Order: sequence, then C-alpha cells, then structure tokens
Amino acid sequence: MRPTAAPAGTERPEASDPGRVVRNNGATRAFHAATFLVTSVLLATGWWLRAGNEGRPSALADLFGTPDTEVHRNAGWVLVGVAAAGLTVGVRAAWTFARETARVDRGDGRWFLRWPWGAATGRFAPHRGHFDPGQRIANLAFVATLGTLIVTGVAMTTLSGGPTFATMVRIHRGATYVLTALVVGHVLVVSGVLPGYRGAWRAMVTGRVTRATARRLWPGDAPREPGA
Ligand code: HEM
Repeated sequence: MRPTAAPAGTERPEASDPGRVVRNNGATRAFHAATFLVTSVLLATGWWLRAGNEGRPSALADLFGTPDTEVHRNAGWVLVGVAAAGLTVGVRAAWTFARETARVDRGDGRWFLRWPWGAATGRFAPHRGHFDPGQRIANLAFVATLGTLIVTGVAMTTLSGGPTFATMVRIHRGATYVLTALVVGHVLVVSGVLPGYRGAWRAMVTGRVTRATARRLWPGDAPREPGA
C-alpha cells in the first residue's frame, strides 16, 4: 500500500521542518477576500429579500443608507467587476485554476472513497495536482453557481417583469440555495472542525502552511521530506 501523510495533530512541523510552504500569493488572497466579502453581502441581502423583508431595512441597508434591493444590486455589480478582473488582470492565475480544476488522475476515485476516513483522521489517500479531487468538484460548483447568479442577476436588472423575468428569479433563487450549501460546506472544511483539515485555513489567510499540512492535504505539490 502507498504511504499516506501523517495524521492531523501528530505532526511537529517546528521540530522536523521549520519552514512553511507558500500556497497562495497576495494577489490570489486579495481576489479570494474580495469574492468572499461581496458574496457575503449578496447572500445576506438576498436572503433578506427572499424572506419577504423588502420594505424593512436590514442592518446593511441602514449602514449604506439605501434600500436592500439597491445594496444587493450594487454588490452584484461589484461581483461582476471582481469576476471581470479575475479573467483579465488575473488571466494567468485563472488559467492555472481552470487547468488544475479540470485534471483527472488515477487514484482520484480512491481518494473519494477514503475521504470520510481522511477528514476524520488526516490520513487521506494521496492525489496529484494543486487541488485535491474534492476541491476540484467544489471549484466547479462555485464557478457554476456564481456564474448562474451573475447571468440571471444582470438579466433581472435589465428586465421589468414578464415570463423571462419570472424564470430568471426562479433560477436565481435555486442557485442561491446551492451556493448557500456550498458556502456552509466550505466554511466547515476550512474551520478545522474536521481534524483532517486542520491548518488548511492558513493557505488562504496567511498564504503559507506548514510542510506537514502541505504533505497531508496536497502531497503532489508539497516539498519532499529530507532524504525521501
Ligand atoms: C452571491 C451572489 C448572489 C446571491 C446569493 C443572490 C441572491 C438573491 C436572492 C435570494 C434574491 C431574492 C430573490 C427573491 O425575491 O426570491 C435576489 C434578488 C435579486 N438579485 Fe441577486 N444574488 C446574487 C448575485 C446577484 C448579481 C450578480 C446581480 C446583478 C448584478 C443580482 C441582482 C438581483 C436583483 C436585481 C434582484 C431582485 C431585487 C429586487 O427585488 O428588486 N444578484 N438575489
């Protein structure tokens, strides 16, 4: 059997490997933070409107001094801008993201089969590439739902009623439910509640993870152990 990485909690990075591994640069982290911030505003105001509170200003509407529908629409345009920046200024990173998300390697099926055990103990099956197979599925789902919300949202801002508008609202709502589930799952994974993912949050907050965390979660990308 191929060796698996050290289980979460048993590693002592400072003893064996003092250095950290750079996982994400500043531009990637800024893009992620902007997406996270604007998506949070859109989810908060979107759910507020969905719950039938249109006439009642939320805390965000009070903060910006404008109705929730306006806060939502403006945040929607900011999301369009963030996506456009990602595809133009960040085209090289976007290409790497797409290529690494689209890859399929031998052993990915085994990684999925062992995932519950890996999430609980840190002993994941090995995989290749920058993202683990679960992240690749999550990436696809995030891009598809955010893309759907942007297309239907922009359509809603340009239409005023009619059957097409009603269809856009239905799709926009459906994509909101899917996105909400994805965000909850994502936050659960990076929060470290699942022992296997302890330390993962550092990859996007500080940009660096310990070598032990890198070997546990992204062995194909991680530096080899000395002498290995
Ligand atoms: C994270 C992304 C987004 C989420 C989660 C989201 C969610 C929602 C939800 C739940 C509603 C209420 C639907 C209902 O009445 O049942 C809504 C309404 C709306 N959204 Fe979004 N949305 C997002 C992005 C966008 C974008 C990018 C735009 C356009 C630029 C947009 C434009 C609109 C418009 C125009 C409405 C109708 C507001 C009104 O009642 O006047 N949304 N959104």
